[in-house]
Amino acid sequence: MTPQPPSVEDPRALLRWYVESGVEDIVEDAPFDRYAASLRPAVAAASSTAPASPPPTARGVAERPLRQAPPPSFAPVSVATPPFESPQLIEDARALAARCTTLDELEAAVRAFDGCALKRTANKTVFADGARGAPVMVVGEAPGADEDRQGKPFVGKSGQLMDRMFAAIGMSRETNLYITNVVLWRPPGNRTPSSAEIAMCVAFLRRHIQLARPKVLVIAGGTPLKALYDANDGIMRARGRWRAYDMGDGATIPALPTLHPAGLLRATANKRFAWKDLLILQDKLRELETAP
Ligand code: URA
Repeated sequence: MTPQPPSVEDPRALLRWYVESGVEDIVEDAPFDRYAASLRPAVAAASSTAPASPPPTARGVAERPLRQAPPPSFAPVSVATPPFESPQLIEDARALAARCTTLDELEAAVRAFDGCALKRTANKTVFADGARGAPVMVVGEAPGADEDRQGKPFVGKSGQLMDRMFAAIGMSRETNLYITNVVLWRPPGNRTPSSAEIAMCVAFLRRHIQLARPKVLVIAGGTPLKALYDANDGIMRARGRWRAYDMGDGATIPALPTLHPAGLLRATANKRFAWKDLLILQDKLRELETAP
């Protein structure tokens, strides 16, 4: 995800690159032993006893400012603690998500969930933005620095491009778009999320899609494509072609893979493909509107 650094001849660009790469994430007022932190139990919200009752919204677990390091602790670590993103925790995440019956409940459950290591280095949980009940749900990859600061998906440069692209076909997050990412916490330094981190977040994403019940899914980039279909088709080959998304509850909806806006910022010549995809989306929405 992180592009190559600009040359030292352009110090402003280099500084911007450092910030975008997350250099501020490791400059803390005090040292923080992330290794020790990673050994500490982090699964309270996901443990098999925790989510059963009260329901996720009632858990009242406020979002922590994650960059405030917890006080050092050298207490012995329980050997029963599953590591982050273990198969057990992924199963717990799925079970927790399944118990949520509304988007509010799911959002509260995600915010209270501590089973993903990414949450420890992120500032905010980035759940979603846009109009709930919108006909189109966009799924991106992972929050970047701007999203992590604001707690909303696609608010940085690539998000602004995405907003302009959708505006060209009369769509906006204020009216008819609902936006989320596969990964709910910013990977440090914008590194590519690991497959275990993705598997954990997908447990929430699938329930997110079920509860949002869009008419159409837009899959922005190769990461969400792979996460949702476990397929290795490159995004260039998959883009612009409808495929069925199985909601997992008996329903299927059309899903359109398209290019990620961050990629379009780097390879502007590909904008013409993204424009074609938008027109394909527009046609589908018209077709769905007139369908009996
Ligand atoms: N890229 C993404 O995939 N998602 C965001 O929210 C921002 C950038």
